Amino acid sequence: MRMVDLIEKKRDGKALTREEIRFIIDGYVGGEIKDYQMSAWAMAVFYQGMNAEETAELTLAMAESGEQLDLSTLEGKFVDKHSTGGVGDKTTLILAPMVAACGVPVAKMSGRGLGHTGGTIDKLSSIPGFQVELERASFLSQVERIGLAVMSQSGNLVPADKKLYALRDVTATVDSIPLIASSIMSKKIAAGAQGIVLDVKYGSGAFMKDLNAARTLAEAMVQIGNSLGRRTVALLSDMEQPLGRAVGNSLEVLEAIDTLQGQGPADLVEVCLELGAWMLVAGEKAPNAAAGIEVVREALESGAAWEKFLELVKVQGGDVQAVQEKRLAVSAERVPFPAPQAGYVQKVDARTVGNLAMVLGAGRETKESAIDLGAGVIVRKKAGKWVEAGETLLELYSADEKKMAAGLSLAREAVTLGAEPPEHKPLIAEVIL
Ligand code: URA
Repeated sequence: MRMVDLIEKKRDGKALTREEIRFIIDGYVGGEIKDYQMSAWAMAVFYQGMNAEETAELTLAMAESGEQLDLSTLEGKFVDKHSTGGVGDKTTLILAPMVAACGVPVAKMSGRGLGHTGGTIDKLSSIPGFQVELERASFLSQVERIGLAVMSQSGNLVPADKKLYALRDVTATVDSIPLIASSIMSKKIAAGAQGIVLDVKYGSGAFMKDLNAARTLAEAMVQIGNSLGRRTVALLSDMEQPLGRAVGNSLEVLEAIDTLQGQGPADLVEVCLELGAWMLVAGEKAPNAAAGIEVVREALESGAAWEKFLELVKVQGGDVQAVQEKRLAVSAERVPFPAPQAGYVQKVDARTVGNLAMVLGAGRETKESAIDLGAGVIVRKKAGKWVEAGETLLELYSADEKKMAAGLSLAREAVTLGAEPPEHKPLIAEVIL
C-alpha cells in the first residue's frame, strides 16, 4: 500500500477501507508516513468527508494507537461523560460524585484548560493537597473501592490523536466533522468507556457556534459510539452565556460545593441532572431519562453526592476540612463591574467572559502559561434579569493590578443591556440518541 494512492483515493471522494485507514494511522504514529502526506490526507478528508463506517474505523484505529484502559473488570457499566468545552462548565465536579453515588462507576480522565475554556484538572488543583496525577493501578483500585476517581489524562492515551490534532491545528483542518468526532470518541474509547454521554455545547463560548453544527457533530459521535457497541447519547446544550455564575478555578469549585449542598444555580443543576440521568440510562441503572432524573435528584438532595465528593477529596489527598469550610484560595482583590444604565440583561457573552477570566489570570493563553487558581469572574446577573443603573453585573477577581485593569476594560463588552427581556431559550435544545 502507498500513502500517495490513499491520498488520491480520498481526494477523489472514494471511501477508504478498514485496512487502508489502519495503514494510515499506524504509519503516521510509527513515523513512516510524514507530516506532509498526512496534511494532504487531512485536507482531502476536510473536503470529501468520510462515511459512517470510515469514521468508526478511524476512531477505532486511533483508540488502539496507544495505551488503553480495560475497565471490564469493574462492577457495573462504566460510563464516561464528555463536554465539548465551555465557560463555567464545572459539571464533572458535580456529576461524577452524583452518578457514583447512584452505583455507576466513574473513572474520569480529564484535561487542563486552554484559552477561554477551563479544565477539570485545574479546578480540582485548587483544593489544597488534591492529587491529580495518579498511577494507573491506584486509579483503578480507587474506582473499585469507592466507585470514583479523577486523574489527569495519561501521556500515552491515543498518541495518534495527539499527533494528528497538532497537525490539523496548523493546516486549517480542525473543522472537519469526521476528524473532530473521531478525535473525541477515540479518547473516550481508549479510556475504556462502555457507555458515553456527550454534552455538545453550542453558542458563543462553545467550539460549535450554532445549533445545526453542534447537531451534526453530535449525530456523528452518537453514530460512532453506537456502531462500536457503546451506548452513546448526546445532549445539545446552550453555551451563549456561562453555565452557573462562577468562572475560574477556585470560584467554580466553590460553586460546585454549593450545588452539591443543594444551593446550586438553576441552570447548572438542570444540566447536571439531565446529564446524570442519561449516564444512568447508558449505565443500565435506569430504564429511561425520566426515571434517571428522580434517582440523581435523590442523590443530590439526600447529600449522598456531597458525601461521595468528600470521599473523593479525602482519598486523593485533598484537605477535606478546607472543602467543608469552603476555604479555597480566592484572589483577595475583588472589583465589581456595575451596570452603566438600567435595563434587562439581554446577553452575557460566554466567549467574552471566558476571555475575561483568562485576562484576569484564571486561564492559559498557551499550553505553557501559568494560571492563578484564585482569579476569575462571578456573573451576578444573567440573561433575562432586570438591573438598575449601578447594580453589580460582574465581580472580577485577580491578584494582579494590571490584569484587573485589563479585565475591567474587557468587562464592558461582556454584558448587553436592553429595554426588552430577551427571548427565552431552553438550556438543553435536543437529545440525540
Ligand atoms: N476536541 C478534540 O478533542 N478534538 C478535536 O478535533 C476538536 C475538539
